[in-house]
Amino acid sequence: MFERLQQKWKVNGWRLLLILVTFAVGGSLCGYLGRLILNQLTISQSVIRIILYIVLVTILWPFCVILISIPTGQFFFFRSYLKKMGQRIAGKKTQTTDKLIMNTEEKSSPFRIAVFASGAGSNAAKIIEYFKGKPGIEIGLIVCNKPEAGVLSIAQKEGIPTLLIEKEKFFRGNAYVDELQHANISFIVLAGFLWKVPVALVQAFSGHIVNIHPALLPNYGGKGMYGMHVHNAVINAKEKESGISIHFVDEVYDHGAVIYQAICSITDTDTPETLAQKIHQLEHAHYPRVIEEVITKLQKRS
Ligand code: GAR
Repeated sequence: MFERLQQKWKVNGWRLLLILVTFAVGGSLCGYLGRLILNQLTISQSVIRIILYIVLVTILWPFCVILISIPTGQFFFFRSYLKKMGQRIAGKKTQTTDKLIMNTEEKSSPFRIAVFASGAGSNAAKIIEYFKGKPGIEIGLIVCNKPEAGVLSIAQKEGIPTLLIEKEKFFRGNAYVDELQHANISFIVLAGFLWKVPVALVQAFSGHIVNIHPALLPNYGGKGMYGMHVHNAVINAKEKESGISIHFVDEVYDHGAVIYQAICSITDTDTPETLAQKIHQLEHAHYPRVIEEVITKLQKRS
């Protein structure tokens, strides 16, 4: 049962525990407050008291869990959970959302991938190609932060929905968690995505976000280390080898657990441009397969 909940809410074991604690403490607080208010009222008829208690608890419950979710660090989860609940009650779900939710329940595999990319999208193209026709895994969305990025035309050509994101909402809003959940996204692949992933998104998709970095982490990683900046730094340092790192994404830049690394050698005649080509070859050869392996493991666990 716990594994099913982890899968459904896309959280690791520790977060599931914090969520369940929030439900339990929030629920108890709500019951306690309900009784406290009821005791202030001079109503003796037990039927009316019961009805009033149910009404009070229904009103108080969202406030109580949100309050408790702050110290347990699960505010973003409960904000999104309550929002969805509210939408269901108000019957505001769009037809598309209804359809997508039905699809997840019907399908044996819930893995719809969102590929986040900021540039040319050669990795995104390879990933799309690899998963074409593979049962159980599909590229459901291309997320991009640049209207002129090549990856958008690739998505259009392949008939994959796109989501163009804005800085303000990404970093100070809900980090598009609601949109991704409504699109039934279960897994996020960063493929040349150059913005840092906000905590809200990392938490909502904990253990379900992977990134590819064009160097051998922990070397040449961190803020400002992306694309050609990495290759320039590696060549300037006269390294004899470089490579790729595929890793889980956590709250820190290029920091999450490394899943896979591949190495290429650097010769004296290599330039940042020729190194970039070697790195791209490694990325295209390994990233799609590694993504599939990670997802297969997650599916087996559920
Ligand atoms: C890739 O080399 C990827 O490793 C890198 O951007 C390139 C995107 O190429 N990512 C980073 O530097 C992230 N720190 P693409 O748009 O052709 O896939």
